[in-house]
Amino acid sequence: MAQHIGILTSGGDCPGLNAAIRGLGKAAREQYGMRVTGFLNGFRGIAQDQTVELDGPMLSGILTDGGTILGTSRDKPHRMPIGGKLLDMTEAVVATYHRHHLDALVCLGGGGTQKNALRLVEAGLNVVTLPKTIDNDIAHTDRSFGFDTALQIATEAIDRLHSTATSHERIIVVEVMGHRAGWLALEAGIAGGADVILLPEMPYQADKIAEAIRSRTQSGKRFSIVVVAEGAMSINEAAEVEALVAARGMADSKKQRAELSEKLCKFHDEHVGHTIRLTRKLEKLTGQETRLTILGHLQRGGTPSAADRVFATWLGTECAQVLDARKYGVMLALQGNRIKHVPISEVAGNKRLVPADHPLVHAGRLVGTSFGV
Ligand code: F6P
Repeated sequence: MAQHIGILTSGGDCPGLNAAIRGLGKAAREQYGMRVTGFLNGFRGIAQDQTVELDGPMLSGILTDGGTILGTSRDKPHRMPIGGKLLDMTEAVVATYHRHHLDALVCLGGGGTQKNALRLVEAGLNVVTLPKTIDNDIAHTDRSFGFDTALQIATEAIDRLHSTATSHERIIVVEVMGHRAGWLALEAGIAGGADVILLPEMPYQADKIAEAIRSRTQSGKRFSIVVVAEGAMSINEAAEVEALVAARGMADSKKQRAELSEKLCKFHDEHVGHTIRLTRKLEKLTGQETRLTILGHLQRGGTPSAADRVFATWLGTECAQVLDARKYGVMLALQGNRIKHVPISEVAGNKRLVPADHPLVHAGRLVGTSFGV
């Protein structure tokens, strides 16, 4: 009997989601005769049974569109805000799955989605996931779709900031997204020829950054571009986080753990906009006029790059083949130049971060880029 597949997009949107939905939908319907139903707005749509049939016309003309035709949210099945309360909707998700007689559910998302997908696997559902995020930080895959487009946008922004930084002989600080991972900052920084790159994985010292800028000035270069990942931290801030995490690991009561988790959340909330403080500090330390540009959600908007369209289409069509083979509980991952099937249990809860000895960090150093350490 023909299979019935559910599909949802969850977490922050990114370019390439529609290309993946189209690739999966077209191959599943046209090659394998499957029925494909979309759930709206992430896990909320399957908890509340909000659907759209992904038929021929729905899957047509969306390859180049940014965002997601299904809508998305950061809702988790086990802690969903409903009527002012946080409810565990896992049973409702399972009930919707069975009410529609689904054979499998495909979840397109980042690290959070992988964790939520694992919960549904543990609740007995057949789940397959595809890796999407501009952060490129999903474990066991060399790449997630969305990253390439965000990289292009951030690089173009840095290119444009270069000319104004030169004209005014200013320092320009550019904040790029990436959550707790530095891939976007690292690659956009290298592509844009940044003079300083600050990554979450390599806590910085402001005086080292100022030193690098001063030595540029001494050699006659009177402007500097500082690319900062939104999750970058000074060594003092990183030590504070490390101490909180260590204390939480050793806490012997649930109450103590919850208090320490709350402190960590507060730290990260207050860390938003830290680049404003860094910009002021650099101006003071160097005596040079300094400006800040925060690229924000611009990096997630608009049409996907050619590379993201190709990769998302490949993942989507490969997913249809995996579903046809009734292989479940896996994320499709790019490893080398092949798509591999990695158990979701090995992906969930793990992050792919930039190692301090990564070849690209080394390459940056060899062209004279400072990492503020
Ligand atoms: O995970 C993708 C991402 O764009 C991160 O780089 C960023 O920290 C986060 O999402 C922003 O989330 P939101 O769109 O919910 O503000």
